[in-house]
Amino acid sequence: MPPRRLSFVLLVVAVLAGGGAGCPASDREALLAFRSALSEPHLGIFSSWTGDDCCSQWYGVSCDPTTGRVADISLRGESKDRSGGLMYGRISPEICRLDRLTTLVLADWKHISGPIPPCLTSLPLLRILDLIGNRFSGPIPDDIGNLSRLAVLNVADNQISGSIPASLSALSSLMHLDLSNNQIAGPIPGDFGELRMLSRALLARNRISGVIPSSVGHMTRLADLDLAQNRISGEIPDSLGSTPVLSSLYLDSNRLSGQIPVELFSSRGLGILNLSRNAIEGEMPDAFGSHSYYTALDLSYNRLSGPVPKTLVMAAYVGHLDLSHNRLCGALPVGSPLDHLQPASFADNHCLCGGPLPACK
Ligand SMILES: *[C@@H]1O[C@H](CO)[C@@H](O)[C@H](O)[C@H]1NC(C)=O
Ligand SMILES: *[C@@H]1O[C@H](CO)[C@@H](O)[C@H](O)[C@H]1NC(C)=O
Repeated sequence: MPPRRLSFVLLVVAVLAGGGAGCPASDREALLAFRSALSEPHLGIFSSWTGDDCCSQWYGVSCDPTTGRVADISLRGESKDRSGGLMYGRISPEICRLDRLTTLVLADWKHISGPIPPCLTSLPLLRILDLIGNRFSGPIPDDIGNLSRLAVLNVADNQISGSIPASLSALSSLMHLDLSNNQIAGPIPGDFGELRMLSRALLARNRISGVIPSSVGHMTRLADLDLAQNRISGEIPDSLGSTPVLSSLYLDSNRLSGQIPVELFSSRGLGILNLSRNAIEGEMPDAFGSHSYYTALDLSYNRLSGPVPKTLVMAAYVGHLDLSHNRLCGALPVGSPLDHLQPASFADNHCLCGGPLPACK
């Protein structure tokens, strides 16, 4: 390449990379409107938001190098354990003028309030929406399902209310969903299992009611399902046992009834199962084996009856076991996976004996 052509190319690259060219004025104005609805008095991060070029040196802002448009706003206060920043105010709908935005992170600022602007659902490229650890209120926007590229939706630890929008199941790229610790009520959409890319579904500590949709059995990538501390009723669907990569399942502190599906105990890879504090009845399925490797198996505070299954001693590993506060009866199976367990694991049952408990008569 002749030297003049080369320097022209380098100049173009430098301009596209935002070197001094400045971001589009409309993006800059949208960012300034977004900033003016927020205040961050302690760290002063917004003091860097000056000058024409919002693509360089504006703290937490980055641009697409080819288009020069604002693509990413990532502002994190520190998480709970460290003393971090505080931010007040709300998200201005003006942010929706940044129509090339792929990432919006406004996480752990503790005090940002107001609604999640519904216009965010019209941002066609949005992949990450992370608003964890603030005081957002109002519902998840109805049209959330329009965000066909959304991979991460995290609004945990806020005051979100309303129900889970029916359109949520249309988020065909969604991999990580965290709605934990809000005030979300109503049922899980019946076609939740359409979320084929979803790997973590964390919905604990809300007011979710209704049943666990059997469509969850179609979720081939689901590794972590946490529905703990809600008002979920009905039976545990058999299909949950056929999700191939499920490794943790928290259904504790709900209103589940019926029996434990045998498929759940015969599934491979499930390492944490918490069904504590429900109204589950019947016998524990006798389906443990060398595939069973539990770091925690908590079935306490239910209405389980009958014996502790003999196959439990065939388990490869049982770290923490809690069968207390049930109606179990009979001799505990004896074997090495259970040797380390204390009487508390079996407390308050009908007539268990042997093992760490008093000998059977
Ligand atoms: C979501 O998509 C529907 C159907 O295409 C459309 O009518 C609606 O206006 C969209 N919502 C937003 C906020 O863009
Ligand atoms: C299971 O859930 C109960 C009730 O929500 C909780 O108290 C317990 O600590 C949990 N067990 C494990 C092993 O996480």
